[in-house]
Amino acid sequence: MDSQDRIYVDHAATTATDPRVVEAMLPHLTQYWGNPSSIYFEAREARKGFDVARRSVADVLGARPNEVLFTSGGTESDNLALRGVAYGARKRGNHIITTTVEHHAVLHTAERLEEEGFRVTYLPVDKEGFVDVDELKAALDDETTLVSVMYANNEIGAINNIAEVVAIVKERDPNIAVHTDAVQAAGYLDLSVDALGVDLLSLAAHKIYGPKGSGVLYIRSRTPFAAQMLGGAQEKNRRAGTENVAGAVGMATALALADGERGERREHVRALRDRLAEELPKRVRGTRLTGPTGAERRLPNSFSCCFEGVEGESVLLQLDLNGVSASSGSACTTGSLEPSHVLLAMGVPHATARGSLRLTLGKDNTAEEVERLLDIIPESVERLRSLAPSREPRRSS
Ligand SMILES: Cc1ncc(COP(=O)(O)O)c(C=O)c1O
Repeated sequence: MDSQDRIYVDHAATTATDPRVVEAMLPHLTQYWGNPSSIYFEAREARKGFDVARRSVADVLGARPNEVLFTSGGTESDNLALRGVAYGARKRGNHIITTTVEHHAVLHTAERLEEEGFRVTYLPVDKEGFVDVDELKAALDDETTLVSVMYANNEIGAINNIAEVVAIVKERDPNIAVHTDAVQAAGYLDLSVDALGVDLLSLAAHKIYGPKGSGVLYIRSRTPFAAQMLGGAQEKNRRAGTENVAGAVGMATALALADGERGERREHVRALRDRLAEELPKRVRGTRLTGPTGAERRLPNSFSCCFEGVEGESVLLQLDLNGVSASSGSACTTGSLEPSHVLLAMGVPHATARGSLRLTLGKDNTAEEVERLLDIIPESVERLRSLAPSREPRRSS
């Protein structure tokens, strides 16, 4: 099959780099290749590009340029947010609060911090995947220094009310820092750090048509923060290492485009997603929709479900053979048959969660592709069921 005929519906995993982003990055790889920390001509040209990128990101966030730190992506931003504040505020306390449905970049960092002597509370979520704010209130204590709650979930698209989280935390103690992982939110939701009220916010360029290996951590002024990468004074001593100027320019360009085209992109993917959500359960028996049912609190490009009686991984392989690139939602560890920690946290039974499918739409998907998906997915699931008749779903479901 020609790669042009394939249907890519895994935009939460990554996106194709927008040609406008590539165009903006290129001069910073070919012409302005100097080390921005040096003092001569080439360095000044590189520094200019880096500074412009930083200002542009700050503008979208409604932040000051020196509150924007360029990183190697979402994973580093999340690691840095948790570790930076945990150690930066250690004198004040050693308790961190996060949720059970975070990306592993947050969860594994929190687990490591536990091994290093910090105390971590993992907040539960309801059956749609939203964080329970009453549990948050109950979890805050005099030792709490950091709360990290994701803005939008990468598997089921649930959008948390971050302003409400911040209000609860700050009422208890304005010194407690609040971090949000906005990696999936960035393409579709408002990123104003003052409207959200957050102290730290993570972004990744490659989820919004920018380059891989480039991200941002916003750190509000005066947030206690201990550098984790040592060996240079870059980024005002908060992250050592020669700057990835082209990556930063790519990040900034992708973010500015996402900001400018947000409304258009949102409407486009929402119409496609709604058609899938309405039609797929009619065409595949034994389909259980997962995640928020109300469109207002779900990312507009996010669709997820579980098919009874089939393994999600087998569905993905079958879809791949039929020219469709999708995800089971659980895949950080591709090839793992472990059901998604997010679905389990929402109370989806283990056996059901094994049949999960996640489709995340993007700006270049078309209505025609969605109609093809509505043929290919039912055929693929039925084919698998016919190969394993013993696991057939009950007709009544
Ligand atoms: C919510 C969330 N946070 C963090 C990350 C990690 O970002 P990156 O791939 O840039 O390291 C991802 C990527 O899937 C994500 O979805």
